[in-house]
Amino acid sequence: MDHFTYHNGVLYAENVALSDIVAKVGTPLYVYSTATLERHFRLFDDALSGIDHLVCYAMKAASNQAIIKTLAALGAGMDVVSGGEYMRAIKAGVPTDRIVFSGVGKTHQEMDMIIQGGVRQVNVESEPEMVLLDKAAQRHGKKIPITIRVNPDVDAKTHAKIATGKSENKFGIPIAKARDVYATAGRLKSLDVVGIDVHIGSQLTDLEPFALAYRKVAELTEMLRADGHDIRRLDLGGGLGIPYVRGNQAPPLPEDYGAMIKREVGHLGCEVEIEPGRLIAGNAGLLISSVIYLKEGEGRNFLILDAAMNDLIRPALYEAHHDIIPVKEPAADAKYEIFDVVGPVCETGDTFARNCALHRLTNGDLVAFRSAGAYGAVMASEYNSRPLVPEVLVKGDQFAVIRPRPTLEEMINRDTIPPWL
Ligand code: LLP
Repeated sequence: MDHFTYHNGVLYAENVALSDIVAKVGTPLYVYSTATLERHFRLFDDALSGIDHLVCYAMKAASNQAIIKTLAALGAGMDVVSGGEYMRAIKAGVPTDRIVFSGVGKTHQEMDMIIQGGVRQVNVESEPEMVLLDKAAQRHGKKIPITIRVNPDVDAKTHAKIATGKSENKFGIPIAKARDVYATAGRLKSLDVVGIDVHIGSQLTDLEPFALAYRKVAELTEMLRADGHDIRRLDLGGGLGIPYVRGNQAPPLPEDYGAMIKREVGHLGCEVEIEPGRLIAGNAGLLISSVIYLKEGEGRNFLILDAAMNDLIRPALYEAHHDIIPVKEPAADAKYEIFDVVGPVCETGDTFARNCALHRLTNGDLVAFRSAGAYGAVMASEYNSRPLVPEVLVKGDQFAVIRPRPTLEEMINRDTIPPWL
């Protein structure tokens, strides 16, 4: 469910007409709904009620300070994967005991930063990393809580580029080696081994792969406890998918996901963390764009927009589908036509949708890409020297620009000229 609906023939974000936002900010732009962000966080929080838990928003999905602050105010923890994300969490006022540091290649600078600043736990992904972290913690005279990410060799049944839980993927340590690695970790004096971490992929539309992975983690918990480790925290990762196509069969609800978690690991008495990103931010955001031209090609009509692959790369990168709807509600008897919806960037990959049924739009008409809140703005670039797309947050009948559109001068003036030119 989201808070983007038509009122009096115009698409609204909560109580604000998108056309009013566009009049002020221009296009393309991202618009987020506070109510949807909050609702989605609460769904997860409620789904885990009854067990000790922390929902750590995976801020890689959408990391604007205003979004982080909105979620942190509800008690969210943050899953961060770089020094930059850690700094974003700190700047947004997230308490360090709610920040989990994940990622497959943490640098020693990042380690120093989080050891100095404080962290809830580090999710360690390899033995060399574990040794380096121990040394860094020792240097700072601190003991760092860690989990070790295990790779359970489970097929997440999602797009190959976002599956992470098979043995051929670069993530975690093979679960079969876990007892040995935990034994080594237990001997490292500056690490406090608190638990186990797992994350098998993103945009999962079935609970079974999660259940399989979590069962393996539960078995491992018992084995490690028998080996003398005080396993008291399980980080179960993120990955629950969202419906990108309206009317299609929807992925499982957070409520069912929570019930499954309780079933699989509830008996262990561990504190449970989850790291959802997409489900919290995805349907809380739209990318709004204007039609530049309607170009009639040979046997094909192209709707050329002012948004491009640099603003929303998911269709080009993962063949992802985002529903495209007009901001002005089409009349009940409007005739639909078939378009290829494309951006102005100079490559054929800059295609958002082929054979898309839309009523006839003309120059200046606005369209909205649904489900664009997660992995949208954060993956944007300045390719073709197109300034980074701005972001707006709506709350009730208010809206605020939470990242302005840079001017062309601001974009270009970041370059510096060497003395010989
Ligand atoms: N935790 C870890 C360790 C992760 O690697 C990820 C996502 C998450 C949590 C959050 O997963 P989510 O709940 O959002 O599925 N750019 C891609 C998605 C990449 C996901 C990477 N890791 C896309 O646009 O589909």
